[in-house]
Amino acid sequence: MIQNPIGAPASGAALTIDGLTVDFAGFRAVDTVSTVVEAGELRVLLGANGAGKTTLMDLISGKTLPTAGRVFLGEREITGLEEHRISQAGLGRKFQIPSVFRDLTVRRNLEVAACRNPGVFANLRLGFSPAQTRRVEDILDQVGLVTRQEDDAGSLSHGETQWLELGMLMAQDPKVILLDEPTAGMTEAETMKTAAIIKAMRGRHTLVVVEHDMAFVKEIANRITVMHLGRVLAEGSVADIEANAEVRAAYLGAKGIR
Ligand SMILES: Nc1ncnc2c1ncn2[C@@H]1O[C@H](COP(=O)(O)OP(=O)(O)OP(=O)(O)O)[C@@H](O)[C@H]1O
Ligand SMILES: [Mg+2]
Repeated sequence: MIQNPIGAPASGAALTIDGLTVDFAGFRAVDTVSTVVEAGELRVLLGANGAGKTTLMDLISGKTLPTAGRVFLGEREITGLEEHRISQAGLGRKFQIPSVFRDLTVRRNLEVAACRNPGVFANLRLGFSPAQTRRVEDILDQVGLVTRQEDDAGSLSHGETQWLELGMLMAQDPKVILLDEPTAGMTEAETMKTAAIIKAMRGRHTLVVVEHDMAFVKEIANRITVMHLGRVLAEGSVADIEANAEVRAAYLGAKGIR
């Protein structure tokens, strides 16, 4: 069990969660969760329905106020800050409902997202630098939307819209990115493409991803945190988690990860 308070963040940690807890009228949806996500890591959050995965993301992003515990982005404590302040501090989140600008082209959506990054905001009045333009083109390529770049985002398919959103997060380049079930509603082929995009983000970005599709999880995860009834049940590599008897009993079933 990894439930001990962590205290001050270690150097190299992108996200430090220390004893995070929320009570909803006496019901503990998230119960003393502690974990450290390293910079460049891709962490998968696993757990049955109602385990507290989305609520944990709500606590990290400031959508829900914790009852106890602390959250750090890098060395900066963000506990209790308003959601938009946490976003400004460098937390990016992708929701189920897409937040693309439907009337703007795919390319323009990426340019707008890149300008939300305070580092490039100063250049906005001067137009895009060649480096910035190259970055947007790289991202169009990475998310497979080069041929759709001049189309309105509103004309994209469900899968393409999700990829544009991933591209917008890449352009924003937040310190930590939270993705809650990024393959929900996707076909098998779309799921595989999403896995490739997210895998390519690993190392360059720090990600926490909630996902149920085990083939997908095995494809992308550096480390896995398993939640059960609001608590951390286990944490480790895919192999560690597959071999963990408690995880099998609580979540994966006797046959393990497939
Ligand atoms: N605002 C709230 N008030 C009361 N209970 C809540 C609230 N938000 C979530 N819960 C409860 O907290 C528990 C955890 O919910 P959560 O949505 O975090 O689970 P999850 O792991 O994301 O599940 P799923 O895999 O179904 O998305 C559930 O029992 C849920 O009903
Ligand atoms: Mg959820």
